Amino acid sequence: MNKSNVERTFAMIKPDGVRRGLVGEIIKRYEQKGLRIVAAKLIKADRNTVEEHYSDLRSRSFFNELVEYILSGPIMVMILEGENAIKLVRMINGATRVEEALPGTIRGDYATSTAQNIVHGSDNYENAQREINLWFPELRTNETRKLSVL
Ligand code: TYD
Repeated sequence: MNKSNVERTFAMIKPDGVRRGLVGEIIKRYEQKGLRIVAAKLIKADRNTVEEHYSDLRSRSFFNELVEYILSGPIMVMILEGENAIKLVRMINGATRVEEALPGTIRGDYATSTAQNIVHGSDNYENAQREINLWFPELRTNETRKLSVL
């Protein structure tokens, strides 16, 4: 039998997802695959946090446009928990590029451009820890597994 791999990941509904009224639809997709919401909040992001979040992409030509887009309206940030949560959220979200995002994924069903692609999910364990700590500083402890939430 496979060893269980219950883990936590960070997910974001980007401004276009909130603006288009897709919050319920997106959360429904995560929940119906068994992911549990550990924490969630609707916020207006600040520039430093967004630049830090995407710091790996600082040298890319689309970086400034990406930061302005995330700052363009409220976003919903959340911590999701479940078996293989990191991979699962990225599968539910779909491919980054609009032309590669398959129907049945959030991006495949709703994204109309690569630049504005509705959702974000951490791409590996280290980034999940980093992003959870960055977006939920009020929950920070030495170990993410000991987050002061349910
Ligand atoms: P990236 O981290 O590569 O993808 P993902 O969000 O799937 O983990 O890129 C971050 C965001 O940057 C991506 O969601 C949309 C934007 N982006 C562009 O606007 N143009 C591009 O060519 C790429 C690769 C990403």
